[in-house]
Amino acid sequence: MVDISANCGGIRSPNPFWLASAPPANSGGQIQRAFDHGWGGAVWKTLGQPIQNVSSRFGGVDYRGLKNIGFNNIELITDRPLESNFREIYETKLKYPKHAIIVSLMVETRAEWQDMIKRAIDAGADGLELNFGCPHGMCERGMGSAVGQEPKVNAEITSWAVEYSTVPVLVKLTPNVANIVPHGLAAQKGGAHGVSLINTIKSIIGVDIDTFVPQPLVDGRSTNGGYCGAAVRPIALHMVGALAREPEFRLPISGIGGITNWRDAVEFMLLGSSSVQVCTEVMLRGYRIVEDMIEGLTDYMASKGFDKLDDFIGKAVPNFTEWGELDLNFESVAKIDADKCIGCHLCVVACDDGAHQCIHPVAGARAPAVDESECVGCNLCQIVCPVPGCISMEKVDNGFARTSWNDHVAQGKPLRPKKAAH
Ligand SMILES: Cc1cc2nc3c(=O)[nH]c(=O)nc-3n(C[C@H](O)[C@H](O)[C@H](O)COP(=O)(O)O)c2cc1C
Repeated sequence: MVDISANCGGIRSPNPFWLASAPPANSGGQIQRAFDHGWGGAVWKTLGQPIQNVSSRFGGVDYRGLKNIGFNNIELITDRPLESNFREIYETKLKYPKHAIIVSLMVETRAEWQDMIKRAIDAGADGLELNFGCPHGMCERGMGSAVGQEPKVNAEITSWAVEYSTVPVLVKLTPNVANIVPHGLAAQKGGAHGVSLINTIKSIIGVDIDTFVPQPLVDGRSTNGGYCGAAVRPIALHMVGALAREPEFRLPISGIGGITNWRDAVEFMLLGSSSVQVCTEVMLRGYRIVEDMIEGLTDYMASKGFDKLDDFIGKAVPNFTEWGELDLNFESVAKIDADKCIGCHLCVVACDDGAHQCIHPVAGARAPAVDESECVGCNLCQIVCPVPGCISMEKVDNGFARTSWNDHVAQGKPLRPKKAAH
């Protein structure tokens, strides 16, 4: 039996899967249905002064037949009356005492923060999430990412929230910054109990080439929105990992951004997330995806011998290092399994046009050949190959001792000779 119960900054839930603050967590009825499907927690759609939304407000990126690999929105915070939201938080908490209800908040003045925090806690919130991340609409009013991009303001408002709150406070960070670390440290300085990241990435999802209007369309005009969904996962993973490996940063992390299944969730946890949040994939496929996520996570843990989440949270962090620490003397080359090769020659084209021109067709043979004296082990052929396991990257024993760039510069350690450049 494995235990998948989670604790992120003192917020406990039966599993690490939380709905992110967004349309799937907009009302009590929705969140109760989500809990029935198995979600362990939910971050309530951000509460503030209820706003008027535009129509339309979403857009998707399709690529080679795959729909919505990236998603965009220009929706703002809640447009529902605060009284309804607080009543539904109370009712939901009463009905689901073991599930985590985190209330996302975004207001302006200190007095408003104090008032909203009191109301959220009175309603039964297990935790608060300060929305310092929304990159459209609210930032123009001095909230959302306008706060998240200014470490001093982030730390100051966080300290107010921590002062007024009797439950853990998570700070939701914006990815619209050059380096996430100072912003995580600002939340820590303000006394936060944890951080959540990422919120959405400032973006234009596309332009209608007939009407000349960017999307999504609002009566002939548009504006920038927030990018999310599967396409943003690599950016989110990087930001989570960057904070997790920062020695001065000690807060728990709730990982968000492009999580579509249990594997994605495990990747975030291996890079240091104690819980994970999902928005877009639920919008596209519904609450029931969590059933597979729970089963997949449980099976994964059993297969690896992990009894509890802490056995593997952060396990990939020591392996995420700066470029200067990588072994420059490590060498690999591509090997093509001729029995598996279907002769499509996608690897030949990719290597010729996009890499190092070292895979060559062989007359009379289905499989091309790799010229190992020229192969730099870049991986492109393996990435484009449509047959699983057909191309592998194999280590070359070149006799050179491990030497990073930092070692080379500091100690003059020798580097292996470079392969011929074309
Ligand atoms: C339509 C929409 C509305 C959102 N509204 C909020 C919000 O009110 N508060 C908030 O903190 N984040 C909001 N987000 C951001 C999500 O909570 C999440 O951080 C982001 O979408 C990345 O996760 P994903 O890739 O799983 O969608 C919204 C996202 C979408 C797509």
